[in-house]
Amino acid sequence: MINKQYDVSCGARAGAGAGAGAKAVYSFQHKTKKVVLCCDVKMGKVAVGAAVVCAAACAAAAMVVRRRTKGSGKWGRAEALVRELEEQCGTPIAKLRQVADAMEVEMHAGLASQAPTRLQMLITFVHNLPSGDEKGLYYALDLGGTNFRTLRVHLGGKEKGVVKLESEEVSIPPQLMTGSSQELFDFIAAQLAKFVSSEPEELHPPPGRQRELGFTFSFPVKQTSIASGNLIKWTKGFNIEDVVGQDVVGELTKALQRIGLDMRVAALVNDTVGTVARARFSDQDVIAGVILGTGTNAAYVESAHAIPKWQGLLPKSGEMVINMEWGNFSSSHLPLTEYDQALDADSLNPGEQIFEKIISGMYLGDIVRRVLLKMAEEADFFGDTVPPKLRIPFILRTPDMSKMHHDTTPDLKEVGKKLKDILEINNTSLKMRKIVVEVCEIVAARGARLSAAGVFGILKKIGRDKVKAGEKQKSVVALDGGLFEHYTKFRSSLESTIKVLLGDEAAETVSIEHFNDGSGIGAALLAASNSHYLGLQES
Ligand SMILES: *[C@@H]1O[C@H](CO)[C@@H](O)[C@H](O)[C@H]1NC(C)=O
Ligand SMILES: *[C@@H]1O[C@H](CO)[C@@H](O)[C@H](O)[C@H]1NC(C)=O
Ligand SMILES: *[C@@H]1O[C@H](CO)[C@@H](O)[C@H](O)[C@H]1NC(C)=O
Ligand SMILES: *[C@@H]1O[C@H](CO)[C@@H](O)[C@H](O)[C@H]1NC(C)=O
Repeated sequence: MINKQYDVSCGARAGAGAGAGAKAVYSFQHKTKKVVLCCDVKMGKVAVGAAVVCAAACAAAAMVVRRRTKGSGKWGRAEALVRELEEQCGTPIAKLRQVADAMEVEMHAGLASQAPTRLQMLITFVHNLPSGDEKGLYYALDLGGTNFRTLRVHLGGKEKGVVKLESEEVSIPPQLMTGSSQELFDFIAAQLAKFVSSEPEELHPPPGRQRELGFTFSFPVKQTSIASGNLIKWTKGFNIEDVVGQDVVGELTKALQRIGLDMRVAALVNDTVGTVARARFSDQDVIAGVILGTGTNAAYVESAHAIPKWQGLLPKSGEMVINMEWGNFSSSHLPLTEYDQALDADSLNPGEQIFEKIISGMYLGDIVRRVLLKMAEEADFFGDTVPPKLRIPFILRTPDMSKMHHDTTPDLKEVGKKLKDILEINNTSLKMRKIVVEVCEIVAARGARLSAAGVFGILKKIGRDKVKAGEKQKSVVALDGGLFEHYTKFRSSLESTIKVLLGDEAAETVSIEHFNDGSGIGAALLAASNSHYLGLQES
């Protein structure tokens, strides 16, 4: 391991001839200064032995000096690194306003252009959001990783809301993740059929009526209508070549037919869009949904007139949900550090998803790790050697960072425990732990405040950032995702920052609400609001 600060050498050298003596040298580099301690020994035969003894004495003396210089150096340098981090991660309100403005500019660009832009601003074909009156039984299929879920949602309209929710989780056999399209979708259809067979008899659809399903498919898709979309590429360990470029709803529908399950896929849904739908069902003032979890994304309700790239007819509702894919946002106004640059460079998609890389749960813990690693390397923060575990990418997960950040014990016991259990740094002082918490605070606050700026950018884009004369139009932003849900300090920082950005008056009209399971309940709701049987809903 290279210790950049202290390059120490120690040795005893016997002189060439008798009586030439011997020299013991102990030298080390402290920052820019080279410190050399040496003894000259001129004692003939005993020279070599004496030199060794002397070298040992020298080394001991040097250790004292070194410890002293390092003592102040360690904390001083560590402190300097933290201050530097704090400065580079700074998000004063003026900067957040610039970020929000940049977000708004990129939103306009993405809505206007078919060509690739920072924000894709995808047209989701969702213009019939739930009204809240939806009733009856709808299904959802949520496929986004190695597991999928089937859901049955019993809706009871405004009065009763979601009456009953049943769901089942199934893990996908690994060989199906790299097999053929037919194998995968047949497996899914069979599980779905099994799930449907447990439907209570009194809830069976009347003869001639198909069951309807919302399909959340969390892979990159080019949507072509409310219920069709072509797979762009597989991610997350899937690799089934014959699906790429195909309509995933078509593939699922064929499998449903093969198995004889009479069910129609009524909506193909991105989870962020599902969050908007889920929230709209309960509150008609919902105008956007944001996911802050492992990854991050946002969708919002745009006026159909404000989408220059939209070629189709204007929908009756006059609205269209836009999937921003905001994780790919970037701007020169973002406060990026050397740690972010290194994280990006080491990632599978350098230059992309920059916003996601500084605000989402996948990355926050690793940014903290990178800072601690630098402190270990440059300030011997954790002792003379760099704890080897600290070099392992993504070893420090955001939930662990959150645990440390929320430690309220007087001696920061939880921080000590995490450092020991995860990074095998066994012996940390309270002073060290406090500094670790400070690093967590800086990284989390930046993420939360930038997320708030993003939300504020959306509000600005649709004119909900200001109170219009005589109007008290309410706006609700639906938030979901583990980071928002479980990282309390992140959440409260986000919420308070939005208030500051809005100012007292507008802050009264905007609220942030947590809604979960957009990918499940939200998808079922979109099946309901896009049902073939609208107006014929049973109670
Ligand atoms: C992300 O933004 C970059 C830079 O504008 C662009 O080249 C890239 O295509 C975008 N990626 C996605 C997935 O939209
Ligand atoms: C939809 O959601 C997933 C996961 O949230 C994401 O990875 C995917 O790229 C999204 N967008 C599209 C256009 O499919
Ligand atoms: C810390 O303790 C663990 C076991 O408790 C041990 O495996 C590891 O080597 C120790 N690390 C150091 C640096 O002492
Ligand atoms: C462990 O911590 C204690 C108390 O801070 C200290 O006295 C001791 O020297 C430390 N040991 C090591 C190996 O760092």
